[in-house]
Amino acid sequence: MLLAIAPVMFFGGKGGVGKTTVSAATAVRLTHDGARVLLVSTDPAHNLGHIWSAKLSDTPTQLEPGLDVMELDPAATTDRHLRQVGQTMRAMMPERMHREVDKHLELSRNSPGMHEAAMLERIAEVVDAGVGAESSATYDHIIFDTAPSGHTSRLLAMPELMSAYTDGLLERRAASDKFSRAARGLGGGSRGGGANIVDGREDPVERRNQQIRSVLYKRRRKFEVLRSVLTDPAACAFHIVLTAERLPVMESAELYRDITGSGIRVGSLVINRRSPDDGGEFTAARRKVEQEALSLLDALLPAVPTRELPWLPGEIGTRAALGEIAALL
Ligand SMILES: Nc1ncnc2c1ncn2[C@@H]1O[C@H](COP(=O)(O)OP(=O)(O)O)[C@@H](O)[C@H]1O
Ligand SMILES: [Mg+2]
Repeated sequence: MLLAIAPVMFFGGKGGVGKTTVSAATAVRLTHDGARVLLVSTDPAHNLGHIWSAKLSDTPTQLEPGLDVMELDPAATTDRHLRQVGQTMRAMMPERMHREVDKHLELSRNSPGMHEAAMLERIAEVVDAGVGAESSATYDHIIFDTAPSGHTSRLLAMPELMSAYTDGLLERRAASDKFSRAARGLGGGSRGGGANIVDGREDPVERRNQQIRSVLYKRRRKFEVLRSVLTDPAACAFHIVLTAERLPVMESAELYRDITGSGIRVGSLVINRRSPDDGGEFTAARRKVEQEALSLLDALLPAVPTRELPWLPGEIGTRAALGEIAALL
């Protein structure tokens, strides 16, 4: 089995190195060992459906006993996210600004970071939906098959940014609440029993403010929970998949720095598609290239546990081949 099996696992790395293959094989292996597993693709180039010849969606589909699979839909996630943000913003702004809010959100649909924020919120929801050792948890493991390196490390650095952003909004709310209370106090509106009672009725402004605060707190809580899971080495491990070639090795070292820099534990380096040592001339040349790349890997990331998987001769993108890889893990 892979080293560092954790309740939440991410498989990341350069495009084409075997993230989908290794994450799916790990899921299959864990379900064979009796675990309940949710396998989730966050890569817009979804491939999990192809392996099982199944149409997957943004909600879990059971494909095998103990194995549910889903493909997060970035466009739908962004839409939902913008709708929620829109509601919150409209509630915070006077009505004459609502058209501005809508225009702003329409523009932000394609702005940098929007896609990631929506995806991250969805990841937070999926993780929050139930993983862990308690018998009430829906899954023993949630496995994320992620998009190529850059996207993923940016994504995982975000919970902190998002909490800070929400905190900023909450602080501004607190200041303006205080101001409006003071203003009403001066006007003699508010009476002894509580700030949200005006002339014996509930103050609509105060009620709206409370709703906004509750939306912001909920969102902040989501990111905080995700961050606490990601940075807990007992709860989460990130596995870097690579092939034994110079560029994937260099990219893996950068990914390692980004991931550990976000406080996330790297569980292992999975060196996929190793050439056989069968005495053939071609494979001997490949082995030599791979050996050089692995020496570089060892120099760059000496302390990280590694696991090697062989280059298999047949077609790998099928359920049967996945079983073969699962048995080798
Ligand atoms: N150990 C292996 N032996 C042979 N082919 C492999 C192996 N691992 C992956 N492949 C093949 O390599 C290609 C890329 O793998 P994939 O898992 O889709 O990579 P990624 O998800 O990182 O883009 C696929 O065609 C897959 O079937
Ligand atoms: Mg893939």
